[in-house]
Amino acid sequence: MSETLKISVIGAGSMGSGIAQVAAQAGLEVCLIDTTDEALEYAGKSYVKIFDRLVEKGKLSREEADKVLGRIDLTTDMSLVDGSSMVVEAIVERLDVKQKVFAQLESLVDEDCYLASNTSSLSIASIAAACKHPERVIGLHFFNPAPLMPLVEIVPSVSTDENVTETIKSWMLAWGKIPVIAKDTPGFIVNRVARPYYGEALRIYDEGIADFATIDWAMKELGGFRMGPFELMDYIGNDVNYAVTESVFQSFYNDPRYKPSFTQKRLSEIGWLGRKSGKGYYDYSEGSQDPKPNTDSVHGTAILNRVLVMLFNEAIDAVFWQVASAEDIELAMTKGVNYPKGLLAWASEYGLSQVLTDMDALYDEYREDRYRASALLRRMVSEGRNSI
Ligand code: NAI
Repeated sequence: MSETLKISVIGAGSMGSGIAQVAAQAGLEVCLIDTTDEALEYAGKSYVKIFDRLVEKGKLSREEADKVLGRIDLTTDMSLVDGSSMVVEAIVERLDVKQKVFAQLESLVDEDCYLASNTSSLSIASIAAACKHPERVIGLHFFNPAPLMPLVEIVPSVSTDENVTETIKSWMLAWGKIPVIAKDTPGFIVNRVARPYYGEALRIYDEGIADFATIDWAMKELGGFRMGPFELMDYIGNDVNYAVTESVFQSFYNDPRYKPSFTQKRLSEIGWLGRKSGKGYYDYSEGSQDPKPNTDSVHGTAILNRVLVMLFNEAIDAVFWQVASAEDIELAMTKGVNYPKGLLAWASEYGLSQVLTDMDALYDEYREDRYRASALLRRMVSEGRNSI
């Protein structure tokens, strides 16, 4: 199969509606399916607003916008998946519900239709297990908001046919996306490698080394990150970010590297979820003033470097465990979460032997497995290499 004409998306929530929009803008007929009329109505109304704005901004002509909109069919009728080249599932993150949908889909689509899941925390193998033809099941992990974020992680499971992976990669390129291939391991690339950005920042706060505002200032002003970790967690939602951390932690059999923070758990419990609830680490109510950071650059650089070396170590360890190629890890972090530089190239700039020295110093200080250096980092340094 070389070209897609029609695809279906199951689940018209924030991700599904975004994925359907991307496919329609790439010229495909799209069937967007949800169990509830409310979700479909909401998606339909959002599209009208989004496309009105695109026309106002001159990104599309009214005629083009109407054509794209006309290609999206909103329905509760699952049988309309018939004739699709691919179905992308973006429903609730529950294995039992996803398995049921995948088994049902198999009875409705053609034999050569690919079945993709947008899951961010379940294994693709566990979803594929519900299918008679697991070789056509694959992970296709978009980032929120799907129409704006260029990265897509393609996640073949152990049972996925190689041709399916290759074909979907070519489709994603045709949709204007940047595809990377990730191993079916917890967090795939981005949600694994990015963990220290949140986790180590929280740890620095929990130890009383610096406050939220100072840590955010150091990461942005000294490190060049677009958003500081606390601002970003408030933006993502502390409930969502906490749930991802907890899921990655549990999936890695409680590896202390991914240990969640009580601070974030408490915020999540009390409902201080961030921007969406009006309060998180920061106060978003009208007239509130942001706390002032301590802009002492020596202090700031120490904070920045501690988070950076943890990120470098995580990226190097992902190469070690063959989660993805070095090139795809660089793409994932710059295009999926807008890091200012690829972490592997940045680690080389910092100096791999310095990264190892800093990691070992943290390990010596805390005697926690959380700070163990990747075997690959240690190996490269002992071989005198400064790049992967
Ligand atoms: P959402 O809650 O906004 O939307 C889910 C939609 O699926 C709802 O409209 C619901 O009515 C519908 N649905 C539930 N069961 C269904 C069924 N059996 N058949 C048809 N429709 C059904 O969820 P969201 O945030 O869009 O997430 C969807 C998936 O995407 C999840 O697997 C999530 O882990 C993943 N994901 C979410 C990201 C995010 O930032 N929200 C990012 C990347 C992946």
